[in-house]
Amino acid sequence: MIFVNLYNEILIKFSKNIQDKIMILEISGLYKSFPHAGTGQIEVLKNLNLEVQEGETVAVVGQSGSGKSTLLSLLAGLDRQTYGSLRLRDQQISEMSEAKLTQFRAENIGIIFQQFYLMPHLTALENVSLPLEMFGHEDSQVRAQEALQHVGLAEREKHFPHQLSGGESQRVAIARAVVIRPSILLADEPTGNLDNATGVQVANLLFDLVNTTGMTLLLVTHNTELAQRCSRQLTLYSGTFQ
Ligand SMILES: Nc1ncnc2c1ncn2[C@@H]1O[C@H](COP(=O)(O)OP(=O)(O)O)[C@@H](O)[C@H]1O
Ligand SMILES: [Mg+2]
Repeated sequence: MIFVNLYNEILIKFSKNIQDKIMILEISGLYKSFPHAGTGQIEVLKNLNLEVQEGETVAVVGQSGSGKSTLLSLLAGLDRQTYGSLRLRDQQISEMSEAKLTQFRAENIGIIFQQFYLMPHLTALENVSLPLEMFGHEDSQVRAQEALQHVGLAEREKHFPHQLSGGESQRVAIARAVVIRPSILLADEPTGNLDNATGVQVANLLFDLVNTTGMTLLLVTHNTELAQRCSRQLTLYSGTFQ
């Protein structure tokens, strides 16, 4: 009897888990064009559709110029689509006002760029605590210290970006991206500015962090080895998924 109950409990838990899968990101009919002096317009993204569930790790690969960074900047709300819809959690980010989008991004989206983009005049700790301090979180310092610990840089908190190596700078940038506990982590060629060995170390750290926290990751890269570390790979070609 005990076994039957246990079996039923496991079944219920299992089916509940299936039902509970939360759709984090939904892209539908997404287009992006840029004005172009010669031809009038260049259409970079054409009718993109994608659904990502909570906890998935998705890689978008494609050659240079295929539109990967353009896609990521639309998802991050740093640029606007020409047509189509982008939904993150229950929010239609494609239709948000600038002010709402800025706040939504700061609270929900972690972003890692190839070039790190740390604030040069702030220490490692200040760089990491900045996204929390913008919202007046009382525990910003402690959370930032924890995030730096998670990327193995607890001892470097007082150092400025120019005192850090490329790999260390990207680890600080990773800490800054995850300190807000984002709904989704977006990464654009996160190892693109690092030598191979350092790139592998940073990727190991990134995937350890993502896998232990169950964070949702969307990574764009031309590096197929890096892409293979994600649970799903998509190829962007001529502005659409192949
Ligand atoms: N702001 C812009 N204005 C005009 N063209 C752009 C702009 N941003 C990107 N593009 C063009 O869009 C295409 C895709 O660029 P990008 O998204 O950076 O590609 P990837 O990241 O895959 O290398 C390229 O042809 C690029 O020149
Ligand atoms: Mg790019």
